[in-house]
Formats: sequence, C-alpha cells, structure tokens
Amino acid sequence: MNRKWLFAAAAVLMAAPLLAPNARAMSEKEKALASPYPNDLGPDSLPESVLKTYPAEAQEGYKFLRKRCAECHTAARPLNSRFVEPSGGISDAKQEAALAVMKKDQPELFKNPQVWEVSTKIWNRYVKRMMNKPGANIPPKEAKAIWEFLEYDGVARKTGKNAASWKEHREKLVKEFAAKYPKRYAELKAANDL
Ligand code: HEC
Repeated sequence: MNRKWLFAAAAVLMAAPLLAPNARAMSEKEKALASPYPNDLGPDSLPESVLKTYPAEAQEGYKFLRKRCAECHTAARPLNSRFVEPSGGISDAKQEAALAVMKKDQPELFKNPQVWEVSTKIWNRYVKRMMNKPGANIPPKEAKAIWEFLEYDGVARKTGKNAASWKEHREKLVKEFAAKYPKRYAELKAANDL
C-alpha cells in the first residue's frame, strides 16, 4: 500500500478525537432545539428601558448571557424562565433570609410553579450545569457575571411590583406553548419541569 496514503489515513484518525468536541456540541445544540420550553416563545432580549435601571455589573452579565447562552438555544430560554433566585449573592445564609421574607410577604410566588420557581442558588446551579455541557464555551468569569445578572434580574422583573405583569407574560407563554407543542407540554408537565 502507498505509504503516503497510510500516513494520511493515520493523520485523519489521530485528528478525530480533536474534532469530537465539536460534534458533541452539535448534539447538545440539537438536543436543546429538539426539546423546546415555553421560555423559547418569549423575547430573546430585554427592553433598553428595563436594562438601564440595572446595576452596571448586571448589565455586563446580560451582555455575556446574550452571547454565551445563545449558542445552543436562544437567550429567550434563560430570559423567560420561571426561575427566581433570592438576593444574597454567594452567601447561603443571606439567600435563605431573603427567601423567608419572600415566603412571608409574597406567598403567591410559591403557589404557581409554572410562573415562579423560587429557590436558593437555582441560577447558580443552572449556569454551572450549562457550562459543563459538552461543547459549551463559557469562561468562568463570564459565567459568574451571568449568574449575578440572573439573580438580580429574576427578583427585579418577576417579583414585587412586577409580579403581576410577569405572571401575565409567563401564563401567556405557557398557553401558547400548550397549543403549539401539546406533546412536549404534556411531557414537561409530567416531569414537573414547566
Ligand atoms: C452546550 C449547549 C448549551 C449552552 C451553551 C447553554 N445551554 Fe441551556 N440548555 C441546553 C440543553 C440541551 C437544555 C435542555 C435541558 C437540559 O439538558 O438541561 C437547556 C435548557 C436550559 C434551560 C431550561 C431549564 C428548565 O428546566 O426550564 C435554561 C433556563 C437554560 N438552558 C439556561 C441556560 C443559560 C443561562 C446558559 C448560559 C449560561 C445556557 N443555558 C447555555 C443546552 C445549552
């Protein structure tokens, strides 16, 4: 057999593992797109008027989110999510305290899991889960800023004086989703993932 050809074949075989991460990224992306959520039917950006009221660091995290969290699904998936992480940053004790206040002052946030899922460190866990997916390319510094944005944004846009408008927005998405993807809706409902 032609030696040159053999070398070429060996080179291709050796390069295969290098190509694999890319192939895996595709399949995560395919997975993300094949499994829609109500979130995906909402806008994939925030209005400038809302964003400009946010602290500078949160605005920075938002920019990273728009880039990094739109690699497999669109940025609509995190932005229209029911997840709310209580304020308090990395401190568990502070988040627990904020959660207790929310339970007392806003009991409605705990009665409608399709609209609000309030849990300490929920965004922290999700950002880690997403960045650990094969093919994800999210630098740790940006991941931290994205988490901080999501913590701030959830409380700001989905609770307190904005709780009613958030409820209306989210219920509309779930209703549209049930009509558009009845099978997936039933699947998510059964898995308590809606
Ligand atoms: C490598 C591909 C990939 C990247 C990058 C990615 N995701 Fe995802 N995401 C997925 C897949 C696949 C799912 C489907 C559910 C699962 O596998 O967890 C998903 C689901 C989600 C959900 C829905 C969870 C639910 O149960 O409601 C949220 C929210 C989410 N991603 C947020 C993010 C955020 C925030 C980022 C950026 C930090 C991000 N994703 C980046 C692949 C990705």
